[in-house]
This record gives sequence, C-alpha cells and structure tokens, in this order.
Amino acid sequence: MTSDKKQWDYSQLRKYDLNFEQIPRVYYKDSKIDELLALNRPVVITGSNIVKPACERWNLEFLEDHLGNSDHTVYVSRNHVFKYYDEKKILSKSNPKGVKFKPPTRIVEMKVYEFMQKIRDWRHGDDRIYLQQSLNASVGQAIAEDFVRFDWQYVNGKQDKHNWGPLTSNLLFVAMEGNVTPCHYDEQQNFFAQVYGYKRCILFPPNQFECLYPHPIFHPHDRQSMVDFEKPDYNKFPKFKQAKGFETVLGPGDVLYIPIYWWHHVESLLSGGPTITINFWFKGGPTNIEYPLNDHQKVSIMRNIEKMLVEVLQDPKEVGPLLRTMVLGRFTENINN
Ligand code: OGA
Ligand code: FE
Repeated sequence: MTSDKKQWDYSQLRKYDLNFEQIPRVYYKDSKIDELLALNRPVVITGSNIVKPACERWNLEFLEDHLGNSDHTVYVSRNHVFKYYDEKKILSKSNPKGVKFKPPTRIVEMKVYEFMQKIRDWRHGDDRIYLQQSLNASVGQAIAEDFVRFDWQYVNGKQDKHNWGPLTSNLLFVAMEGNVTPCHYDEQQNFFAQVYGYKRCILFPPNQFECLYPHPIFHPHDRQSMVDFEKPDYNKFPKFKQAKGFETVLGPGDVLYIPIYWWHHVESLLSGGPTITINFWFKGGPTNIEYPLNDHQKVSIMRNIEKMLVEVLQDPKEVGPLLRTMVLGRFTENINN
C-alpha cells in the first residue's frame, strides 16, 4: 500500500511564472472518476491496481535484468529538456526550400545495459538521456508476466464506458531526475501510470491554444508549444501570461488521465532519482459530431484547415496573409458594431 504522505517537497519542483490549480486525486472506485472521464477532464486515479505488479518490483536494476537485449530508443540531450520533433515533416512539400532544422536532441539506439551504465556514470555537465520505448514482444518474461497482470479489467472498462478507440501502445519512459518533456498535446487519450519515482505534470485545456502558441503544423515541432517555460518571451508570446495550468505530482501507483488534446508538460523531480512511467494511449472515440463543437474538436478543425491551406497554397508563408485577408475587418471585434 502506498501511503499518501508526501515523499517530495516544493524545492524539487522547477519554478515557472505560472498559476496552477491542483488536479483532483480520486480513489479508483469512486464514481467521480467516470464523471471526469466523460467530460474529458484530467484526474489522478489513486489506489488502483492498474500497474501494481510493476510498482511492486520495477526499478532500474530490474529493467536492466529483464527488458531484454534488443535495442531501445534513447533520446540524448545537452540539457534537461527533451523537446519532441519529427524530422520527416521538414521534407514535405510545405517546406520546398528545405529550411534547416536543428534537432534539439539526438536519438540513439542502445541496449538496456548501456543505458543503465550511462546513468550510473553520469556526472554534472554530461549529456542527459531519456529512454522512450514502446513495450513490445521483445521484453523478457518477467516484464511480460507483470504486464499481463495489470488491471486490464479496469482499464478496458474505462475504455468501453467512455467509447475510446483501441489501445494503440504502451510507452515505457525511463528518465533521469530533472528531465523535462516540454509542453505539447497528443491526439490520443492517455492513462499515464507512474511506476517508480515522482513526476510533476502540468496540464492546460485545449481552449488555451492562444496562450500556448503551438508550432505550425508542418514544423517538426508540430503539437509542441513554442514558449520556453523557463524563459518565456512575452514580446513574442504575450498571451502566455494568461495561461492557467492544472498541476499534480505523481508517485508510484498514481495514474493520471491526460485527456486527448490537453497540453502537458512533464518533469521528473529534481534530486528525486530516476523515474519509470508507462502510458496507455488510446485512439479517440468515434467522432460524434454534435454542434457546437467542443474545445478539442475546435483544435482538430483548426489543424485540418491549416493542413489544407498549406497543401493548396504550397507555401506556408502564404497561410498568414490569406487568413488575415479573410478575417481582418470582417470577423474582428472592432468592427462588430
Ligand atoms: C505522454 C508524454 C512525457 C514524459 O505520455 O504523452 O508526453 O516525459 N510523456 O513522460
Ligand atoms: Fe505526450
């Protein structure tokens, strides 16, 4: 039984110029969970057996012994920030001139013992590493056994009840203390299950799109915020001042529901040791279009419009001027009356 006594303190949280409300923590049997899931609102599910078999024995030594001897995807960063990117996007016709993109991290395939050795040998100033790998058939037997003993009945029950699509993957995250995944959104429902160590998660609802300034859709950092939370450029991103986050710190056994299209920033606590997390990613439900659209459907519509404009205009630089022509003086508030 994990106690609810705090195993961390505020000095372990990075400092940001943001206001937070706490995400509710709710016991897994409480019907309040279903109310929040139905509304696409985040909640920390406590006391469940969702990943209990993993919480009971997974740590770095255990993973080293049982993750198997295939290669794993490890991100390598000069600093603590691991901003996701997709370089394939830069080759698209939306970037005919092939504008250079400098990836902020490197991807290195390595065996689990190499990864663990690097963590053991790590000294201040060395590159940081973050293993992010989909759990697949190459894992050893002990891990496979624990995986089948997850509380699939509970997880599948929520998936059914809330009409989520199929489970697409379980990503395993093994982080060094202090590692940060900066603010982004995903197009899937997520049960984010903490197994070992402590992670702080900061979420923002989809309707804070304007405050968070996502990169353009065909940029390798699509779905990522352009705002550097540690040094926000308020001249470029003035509305970031109005962002209001929802925050929580997850410990072993806690499962955070990150609703589809909700922004999230994730950090392993400072001086808290390494962390292990498993997520459960599900496709969104069948797009049951009811009008007016809800906030995440509006983001989805904006993505589609943006994609279409880039494709038909054949030049991302033309998107802004076209939208401006369409909107200015016609849909802008100052001429409404
Ligand atoms: C996710 C996610 C980041 C992390 O599960 O969608 O963004 O560092 N995780 O755990
Ligand atoms: Fe994510």
